[in-house]
Amino acid sequence: MVMDGVPTVIRGTGSYAPSRVLRNEDLTGIVDTTDEWIVTRTGIRERRIAAEDEATSDLAVPAARAAMEMAGLGPEDIDAVIVCTLTPDMLFPSTACLVQSLLGLRRGIPAFDVDAACSGFVYGLESARGLLAASRKYRNVLLVGAEKLSAILDWTDRSTCVLFGDGAGAIVLTRGEEGPGGHILATDLGSDGVNSGLIHMPAGGSRVPASPHSLEGRQHFLKMNGREVFKLAVRAMVASAERVLEEAGVSPQDLVGIIPHQANIRIIESVAQYLKLPLTLFPNNVHLYGNTSAASVPLAFDEAIRAGKLSQPGPLLLIAFGAGLTWGSTLLHWEPLS
Ligand code: ACO
Repeated sequence: MVMDGVPTVIRGTGSYAPSRVLRNEDLTGIVDTTDEWIVTRTGIRERRIAAEDEATSDLAVPAARAAMEMAGLGPEDIDAVIVCTLTPDMLFPSTACLVQSLLGLRRGIPAFDVDAACSGFVYGLESARGLLAASRKYRNVLLVGAEKLSAILDWTDRSTCVLFGDGAGAIVLTRGEEGPGGHILATDLGSDGVNSGLIHMPAGGSRVPASPHSLEGRQHFLKMNGREVFKLAVRAMVASAERVLEEAGVSPQDLVGIIPHQANIRIIESVAQYLKLPLTLFPNNVHLYGNTSAASVPLAFDEAIRAGKLSQPGPLLLIAFGAGLTWGSTLLHWEPLS
């Protein structure tokens, strides 16, 4: 068993989705689409939409509380907080600082955001592991993936607005522990900035600050070339999975489960096909939530654990792909959390 550096374990998970359900049928009254088109192209049947006064940090907090509760930890036990998101409450301060305050975590602990779009959680996991490896000051790191994508969707663009939803997932990563949970064995992260234009939000940053012109041009919304992204997503996720498995000397056939980014059931099916693995190894909830970007992997992970779908010990893989472009895989040795 490969174990780079300081051993770490995921000892609690949690998730949260806002209560408002937007079904495909509801979308047919908003854009020119059909339930049949959305289901056959993506597998999505419904998604959750946050309330107007609910921001990303408000979704992050209940997910984080659930993860801390499963880990048996209180706010005073958390030594750092990382929030992975591409829809922060605001450009600054970081959503992690807001979450630190909302949860009543100790003042003085590090808090920062990670933006690697839909790969954010896997990037955040490696950042959390890096903190734990860097210093004994850190024992428990709270890692949250949370998104209010509905706030940056163009509700007149049928090629994107039907694909995404809001939600949050969280874990607590602890240093140096034996016992149940997910023990990180190896990680693979990558990026391709040359293709940054394939998924992006053009305005609102320093390149195109907000102006009447940017508003008029609908530049404050997510834009995506879905067809190109689809092909690159499958290739990058398969290659990343193969690299991390090879690094750890684990065969795909030994995996007890794979938690993929939940963007599209056809992407998940293609990844399963390339890895020559049955779809039953891939717990998925894309039909219920759509693509929740950085929240998608921890939300699917937490639901699979709580539904008893990860009851076998063994190697477990998390794989993600997103804007940037970015991708990443984390291989865990999984001991079921009771
Ligand atoms: N309803 C009905 N028709 C639609 C809709 C819709 N909602 N959206 C697009 N269409 C039409 C298009 O206009 C096109 O019509 P045309 O042939 O007359 O031009 C037709 O359907 C086919 O469009 P395609 O783009 O070829 O459809 P495709 O089969 O590729 O599915 C999809 C599109 C679902 C977006 C797919 O490409 C996909 O899932 N891509 C990957 C997205 C992804 O994984 N993103 C991950 C990262 S996201 C992040 O990081 C934030």
